Amino acid sequence: MFGKPILNELTAYKQGMQIKEVKEKYNLDKIVKLASNENPYGYSEKVKQFFDEIDQDFAFYPDGYAADLRHQLAEKLSVEPDQLVFGAGSDEIITFICRAFLSPGTNTVMAKPTFPQYRHHALIEGAEVREIPTREDGQHDLENMQKAIDDNTKVVWLCTPDNPTGNLIPYEAFVHFMEQIPDDVVVVLDEAYYEYVDPGLRYPFLETLERFPNVVMLRTFSKIYGLAGLRVGYAISNIEIADKLNVVRGPFNTTSFSQRVCQEALKDDDFIERTRKLNEKVRQSFEQFLDSIGWGYYPSHTNFLLVKTPTDADEMAEYLLKHGFIVRSGTYLGYPNTLRITIGTEEDMAELKDVLLQFTNR
Ligand SMILES: Cc1ncc(COP(=O)(O)O)c(C=O)c1O
Repeated sequence: MFGKPILNELTAYKQGMQIKEVKEKYNLDKIVKLASNENPYGYSEKVKQFFDEIDQDFAFYPDGYAADLRHQLAEKLSVEPDQLVFGAGSDEIITFICRAFLSPGTNTVMAKPTFPQYRHHALIEGAEVREIPTREDGQHDLENMQKAIDDNTKVVWLCTPDNPTGNLIPYEAFVHFMEQIPDDVVVVLDEAYYEYVDPGLRYPFLETLERFPNVVMLRTFSKIYGLAGLRVGYAISNIEIADKLNVVRGPFNTTSFSQRVCQEALKDDDFIERTRKLNEKVRQSFEQFLDSIGWGYYPSHTNFLLVKTPTDADEMAEYLLKHGFIVRSGTYLGYPNTLRITIGTEEDMAELKDVLLQFTNR
């Protein structure tokens, strides 16, 4: 009765079980959450120090323009401050993009499966969603994505590295794609895991922005910065696109507290580099373990692995849950018989290996 008809066909985001719920349900003391690609090493010491010294007046609304954070980040990235748009996580920026560029009569092109929020919000705006199946190796099928674009296509979504596979779209393939498509189509480059990518494989940042003015990059403080609970993400684009996104942005969409914490986090590049290297080491060791038991996985450039399970993934996820590990079954991510496992600390992963061995030897 109320709302757009499409809302009757969509469901609200269903989150995985919370640590407290799993503890109570299975009577466990310790839970390792490897389900949402958060940073198991937490956040920088600089952020911890700030928490000890908080001196802010929360009675006042935040600076909606996030001026201090904006200037600090713009300087770091060598872009104009007005090329940045901040959101309550990059999730919120996905809603801005849909709201600003999509409506009935327009269409949007994306991989299937990929990060589900693109589809969800595009449908709410009444746009036609053109989903192009990923290739066997999990890569976006850029050729068929390009063929799906027509005069009514307003937004294309490229998730790189992709969630849930962890695949990176090689830069040459991206450039080739961009050269084939009309320059009035907005191309969203969702780089939530950007900082996890080997620096030699990252897209040349300024060159990409300059060469392709229709690109919007999405980044976040939720992943390698370890601040998922604060909900801050940002878009980088040309000023014309950023201005449009700011029109639909709520006036005070990030909090004064989270803006301040992100400023501290940006000061600690060592933490980011250490985390990237540690993650790579632990991921490689987990990959070797999977090789040793003969399980497949998609090549990952992130802090998670999409693992191909020899038996029913839901059953395995339930088994792991009972043993204190929260992971995500691929059934809900469009890849049946897989588990998406966040790379935890070395100790967490050693315990996980034991539990997986127990499962295979049952
Ligand atoms: C590819 C991708 N994009 C965007 C997000 C949203 O991140 P956040 O809203 O926390 O910035 C995620 C989170 O899992 C993700 O994996």
